[in-house]
Amino acid sequence: MPRKLAAGNWKMNGMAASLAEIDALVKAHPSPACEVLICPPATLIAQMAWKVGKNPIALGGQDCHSEASGAHTGDISAPMLADAGASYVIVGHSERRADHRETDVDVAAKARAAHAAGLTAVICVGETEAQRDAGETLAIIGAQLAGSLPESATPANSVVAYEPVWAIGTGRTPTLEQIGEVHGFLRAELAKRFEGTAADMRLLYGGSVKPSNAAEIFAVADVDGALVGGASLKADDFGPIVAAL
Ligand code: G3H
Repeated sequence: MPRKLAAGNWKMNGMAASLAEIDALVKAHPSPACEVLICPPATLIAQMAWKVGKNPIALGGQDCHSEASGAHTGDISAPMLADAGASYVIVGHSERRADHRETDVDVAAKARAAHAAGLTAVICVGETEAQRDAGETLAIIGAQLAGSLPESATPANSVVAYEPVWAIGTGRTPTLEQIGEVHGFLRAELAKRFEGTAADMRLLYGGSVKPSNAAEIFAVADVDGALVGGASLKADDFGPIVAAL
């Protein structure tokens, strides 16, 4: 089994002064049992790469373009992220899917670009509240998974993050049974494609993970870590989540 993963997504938060949180995190957890990943805004990746040095923290981007370079003002490519010191990139976050109308096809193209650049893609899927209420959760998740994982995906170069849209930043979480149902479904779907090795692909839960609920969520079968937003910004919050894995 691969090491569990505590991934922090800083979203559009963080200034140079926020680098102090990395110092505090490393000081409090110098040898975490799990792998720790921070995805800061792109403006901080290079500075953070310099800061973490040999410390056990991986860095990631929050998005990448599907092309390696070219006339795409404002975009960042996967090779650029790798060049800045990243080893991961999040693709298909629901905020990108909503704010930038990214489709599964777009997400698969970005994941493919990430793989080509040697990055591990954290591929996000998740249902809206209306979809859950309509009993469509597994159908939506299944379709997103099938459409968003490119043919280049392997258990080694990809991580799947289940993030119910209605749980992101709301303080609401699914029940442990609901998380277990979706993660079990994801594992079963992956097993059809990665025969014998699906257990090696890490499945993260994301959506209002905090120190007080991390341990019970991590105890759910097929939860191999978390993608954490708000609670990843401060070492005092993220540290206990790292320690719970
Ligand atoms: O990428 C992280 C997720 O969107 C979760 O965000 O922990 O603030 O709910 P949150």
